Amino acid sequence: MKSLKNLILMSFIGILATGCSDPNSPGLEYMPDMYRDPSIGTYEESELFPDGLGSRLPAEGSIPRGFTPYPYDDDAEGYKAAGEELKNPLTFNEDVLKEGKQVYENFCIHCHGKKGGGDGLVPQHDEWPGVVPAYDSDNLIDLPEGKIFHSITYGKGLMGAHKGQISQEDRWKLVFYVQSLQGKEPGQKMTENNEANENGADEKLESAGSIDQTEEV
Ligand code: HEC
Repeated sequence: MKSLKNLILMSFIGILATGCSDPNSPGLEYMPDMYRDPSIGTYEESELFPDGLGSRLPAEGSIPRGFTPYPYDDDAEGYKAAGEELKNPLTFNEDVLKEGKQVYENFCIHCHGKKGGGDGLVPQHDEWPGVVPAYDSDNLIDLPEGKIFHSITYGKGLMGAHKGQISQEDRWKLVFYVQSLQGKEPGQKMTENNEANENGADEKLESAGSIDQTEEV
């Protein structure tokens, strides 16, 4: 009787010892499929697909919800075509201009300066003197709205792309604000009202008339 007790005790210790030999082993599993589900884990390999990757790429041509594709390429042709074809889809009003100003102060002012004179803190630095052109300079005063949008989207020269940081809608608000800094009536024909205006945008903010609803983009 004593030897039988010993035998049971020994085998029990034996089972415990085997359980401990593999540190990753969970030991005896009761109903393992409750916690070992058959779905593919994050970044897990899978034989289901020829490339062996468990994570799949989105189907070709799919776009994130709420995203509007931008049809022009980041090259000279795209720049030209955007200048000829692209029109601001937003209706101009005081609120839209105010929002454009806000985005400008967050993303542009340190290079382009408060009034768009190309005199922000960055070009005031010894290393980059005068690299930023004024919006009302001869080269930029007649820049079509599509080109302004295109350059904000992809960047130009030393200016980086902003498509990753600023939504399309906000980029169009910026276009209005840049135009007002040029001393123009935003949303109007670009050749009108070209005189540079010391207080450009702020006066526009005060004088902006009718408050229309912003159209869907
Ligand atoms: C790092 C400094 C920097 C920042 C930030 C910056 N820009 Fe510029 N921007 C430049 C420089 C430099 C140029 C001149 C590019 C060239 O023609 O080579 C330029 C050019 C432009 C032009 C003229 C584009 C054209 O087609 O000739 C516009 C419009 C403009 N910037 C708007 C903006 C707006 C709006 C923002 C904020 C979203 C912004 N920039 C942010 C440096 C900057």
